[in-house]
Amino acid sequence: MHASQQNQAESKRQPVSVRVDQVSKRFGAQEVLKNVGFEVEPGEIFVIMGPSGSGKSVLLKNIIGLEVPDEGTVWIDQLDASKRETHSQVLTAMVFQSGALFNSLSVFDNLAFYPREHELYDEGTLKKKVDRVLEMLSLQDAAEKLPSALSGGMRKRVAIARALMMEPQLLLYDEPTSELDPIMAATICEIIATLRDELGVTSVVVTHDRDVASSIGDRVAVLMHGSIRKIDTMDKLKAIDDSEIKEFLNPEVNLKHPRFKTQ
Ligand SMILES: Nc1ncnc2c1ncn2[C@@H]1O[C@H](COP(=O)(O)OP(=O)(O)OP(=O)(O)O)[C@@H](O)[C@H]1O
Ligand SMILES: [Mg+2]
Repeated sequence: MHASQQNQAESKRQPVSVRVDQVSKRFGAQEVLKNVGFEVEPGEIFVIMGPSGSGKSVLLKNIIGLEVPDEGTVWIDQLDASKRETHSQVLTAMVFQSGALFNSLSVFDNLAFYPREHELYDEGTLKKKVDRVLEMLSLQDAAEKLPSALSGGMRKRVAIARALMMEPQLLLYDEPTSELDPIMAATICEIIATLRDELGVTSVVVTHDRDVASSIGDRVAVLMHGSIRKIDTMDKLKAIDDSEIKEFLNPEVNLKHPRFKTQ
């Protein structure tokens, strides 16, 4: 094991904080994030909800350092998330909304990719670790399959499994339960909570699922039109007197709505 990996291994159990400090991000003329600011405490499960297109995925990419803010800074502990060195000192991982799996590698090799790349374990130990994570996510039978041969929900679970293999201190989840049946969604919630309770992993979870937000979120931020509208517990948000948040959290299905009128 290299010295830097030994440092990684030693430091990986310390919970980290995240501070998003007045972050703005635009693509061309479109201002996607506008002065977004909040703090996530070490070991907290911080949920982000908001309408489609409000900037949730872009925000996560700025936290993990894949996108760089035009203004403001994301701090992971005292380190600037946009700097490469930060990610060799703090172990971060992201479960992408699309999965972002390696299509030419089997499920097993997708999970083994990061530890092999960093020479973290011998092959025997690696196999045990991969098998354990596959079992946690009920993926044992999929180990030798290619991502193209999986259902949407299985691909989602492989993306989560691959992030778990990195044993990160900070884990970002972009829609971890979409495409999953209710039992598997509950399992994912249990895994996120267990990682926090047992390893002190700090989690930022983007979700559209109110049950996920209620069951695991310590606090929930509502992102609307690129700005944080409110941060509170899910219970308090449900009772809030803000028509846009109310409508977002409890939308009414109205088949008499004008948009359904045929001429
Ligand atoms: N690389 C990019 N280049 C140009 N525009 C982008 C880029 N990434 C995101 N956008 C735009 O930024 C806006 C916010 O996108 P984002 O993916 O963050 O939305 P979201 O809140 O995650 O939505 P959803 O709930 O549908 O996943 C969208 O209008 C999107 O088209
Ligand atoms: Mg998104």
